[in-house]
Amino acid sequence: MSDKPEKFIDENGLRLDGRRVDEIRPMTVEMGVLSRADGSCYLEWGNNKVLAAVYGPRELHPRRLQRPSEALVRYRYNMAAFSVEDRIRPGPSRRSTEISKVSGEAFEPVVMKQFYPGAVIDVFAEVLQADAGTRTAAINAATLALVDAGIPMKGLVASCAVGKVDGQLVLDLNKPEDNYGDADLPIAMTEDGEITLLQMDGNLTADEIAKGIEMARKGCEQIFAIQKEALLSKFGTTDEEELLKE
Ligand code: CDP
Repeated sequence: MSDKPEKFIDENGLRLDGRRVDEIRPMTVEMGVLSRADGSCYLEWGNNKVLAAVYGPRELHPRRLQRPSEALVRYRYNMAAFSVEDRIRPGPSRRSTEISKVSGEAFEPVVMKQFYPGAVIDVFAEVLQADAGTRTAAINAATLALVDAGIPMKGLVASCAVGKVDGQLVLDLNKPEDNYGDADLPIAMTEDGEITLLQMDGNLTADEIAKGIEMARKGCEQIFAIQKEALLSKFGTTDEEELLKE
């Protein structure tokens, strides 16, 4: 791992990768990349590369796990062994289990599970290359994979992190900022601005948290725009009723 940089933000207010404090890394998305999944999305965000696949709704087995009045949404976040500098041991870890749980919950208000009692909707998020912010990247890809699968949703979910370096809040942490910064605040929200994921590493004051949330909101607005552009180019519409006719 590289050493801690002396400064994260230069005299012109630019970060080590040339971004301003409130700028997200470049993001590209491609939907429908897996023919066997019901929905899929490949997303690159800076040096992160993430693939999301959705299967379902399909009947849940064993049946004792079925919910009589709604579908069960299962979300699995996984980092490929080769996705980081040091090889990751294959299989679930404490970290991936926690990320899977909170990321699945980030979709709670939007997925209309009541339409599919007894069914399961499986979301798989595979991190192929990690460079800080993988849980947020995975959520952004999973949202589009869910839409691609035709799952009825009240809206999209977007996610990005805010952190603190050199005493300043910064949007969408890169790797050195994540490793050596003072805080990491990943956030996910719906298009209505309802926060559905909020975690924190490090220390921030209440005022910094409030400002950080506002910064994340601006980041998520940019991500919603990228997601909608992908929907428009694939389906010719972002209207939910039109999408469900596909
Ligand atoms: O990726 P995210 O920021 O959501 O989660 P994190 O736990 O804050 O990890 C930050 C970064 O550390 C990851 O994106 C990876 O680049 C790296 N990492 C790693 O190299 N090995 C791990 N076992 C976990 C994370």
